[in-house]
Amino acid sequence: MTDNQETPDAEDTTPSGSATLPLRPPCDRLPCHKSSVCSRSYFVVVMVFFHVYIINVIALLFYVHYSSGQEDASRSRDAPSGNHQRPESRRPPSKPEFLRDVSLTRIEGIRVGHVQRVSLVPGKVHEMRTLSLKPLLFEIPGFLSEDECRVVMQLAQLKGLMESQLMVQDGQEELAKELNLSPEEIFNLLDINQDGQLQLHEILTHSRVRDGIWLTPENLREIYAGLKADKDGNDLLSLEEFRLLSNDAFQRFLLQRGVKRSQLVRNSRHTWLYQGKGAHQVLQDIKARVTRLTRLPPTLVDLSEPLQVVRYEEGGHYHAHHDSGPVYPETACTHTRLAANTSTPFETSCRYITVLFYLNSVEGGGETAFPVADNRTYDEVSLIQNDVDLLDTRRNCDKSNLRVKPTKGTAVFWYNYLSDGRGWVGEQDEYALHGGCVVTHGTKWVANKWINIDPDYQRQARYQQLVSQQPEEEDDEGLTLNPDIQSPDIHQDL
Ligand code: OGA
Ligand code: CA
Ligand code: FE2
Repeated sequence: MTDNQETPDAEDTTPSGSATLPLRPPCDRLPCHKSSVCSRSYFVVVMVFFHVYIINVIALLFYVHYSSGQEDASRSRDAPSGNHQRPESRRPPSKPEFLRDVSLTRIEGIRVGHVQRVSLVPGKVHEMRTLSLKPLLFEIPGFLSEDECRVVMQLAQLKGLMESQLMVQDGQEELAKELNLSPEEIFNLLDINQDGQLQLHEILTHSRVRDGIWLTPENLREIYAGLKADKDGNDLLSLEEFRLLSNDAFQRFLLQRGVKRSQLVRNSRHTWLYQGKGAHQVLQDIKARVTRLTRLPPTLVDLSEPLQVVRYEEGGHYHAHHDSGPVYPETACTHTRLAANTSTPFETSCRYITVLFYLNSVEGGGETAFPVADNRTYDEVSLIQNDVDLLDTRRNCDKSNLRVKPTKGTAVFWYNYLSDGRGWVGEQDEYALHGGCVVTHGTKWVANKWINIDPDYQRQARYQQLVSQQPEEEDDEGLTLNPDIQSPDIHQDL
């Protein structure tokens, strides 16, 4: 029913393929005499087939056009929901279904190094350079003025910054308990190559972070040694050896050893600055500029998280992570949770775009690293190889595919999700993995503006409707809970 089937048939009917239609009968090559009867009848036959072929092609085009039009119509009737490919059953219309009337603009990268001139403030033109296509990542020098950088840092200091450490209560242990998995079952789950041994990277891929502590291959060896788990000292755990590594033993070991800040996932302090009505003019200006930059509907930017201001001291870092979580049907977004009148087991931040501002130029280190930017393929397993963990920004930033040097006033921004191809948010972009390299000299100040969009269009629409129904005096951001209360692990780590 597709071109694949129709085209060869049609081609078969033409004597020598459509591209080389002989307008003159190729009598030289055929065993026919150069009589006019022969050439005329041959020409007529060819022309008939040629017309049949053309008519076939036109009919096919009509068919394709008509059927895709129908599909579109039924899609919008079924009310699109991001990229959740649920089998669209005829659900009873219990909740209001919203017809999709917005299409999110996605800025084109063209190619790495491509420069676009953008108008963000009156009387000034900014240059926006494409840094990578996977993720779609741009850099805009001079996005903030020196004064604006200073004001943002001062406001953050006035408000007070708090430790950013994520005490990642993974929930993984609880899940394992709930599932009542035996050590064998866990062992088999971790044994990616199914060779009956656990290599260091197989353990780390699964749990690089234990209670907020970042584990390196050496840490694991130390833990094995402490627990006398790897008796033959070959870095491999057999099932018998793995049994000795119970969760309790693991935890006791970490507690005894004590934790330094450098061993955390993130070593920084941060605060949040509201940007709604009544906020400092600089903060409102930045929000308006971000709206222009991203070309998204202003409401979406208005309803997003406040500005996050982050300060790293010398020695500070942030290991590579995703700002947003993956999209599963059972996952709810933190920002639309109130409107999703169901309780879902998983909740994640849905940050379509990250705009990262450098508020100062760092004396040494502190680059933002994108370990797998523009890699040909993404493979989570190969992020750790031969003891090199690409997510470890204290050690391996030099092996990242892309590093952005922090320069005062520069903004970078990227998409944490792909498009669903229909103008809405699609799958998480796994290439958007990034982190902050260790600051070797001085301090580093950055700010994050995240633009929250629920990949489930219906949930986003319901949320916006709910918010717009609030009394006038409620500032829209007044409705957003303090993000720190909303979700302690505001960042997703692998
Ligand atoms: C973040 C982040 C990178 C940096 O705050 O989420 O990824 O360079 N920061 O500080
Ligand atoms: Ca193995
Ligand atoms: Fe981040």
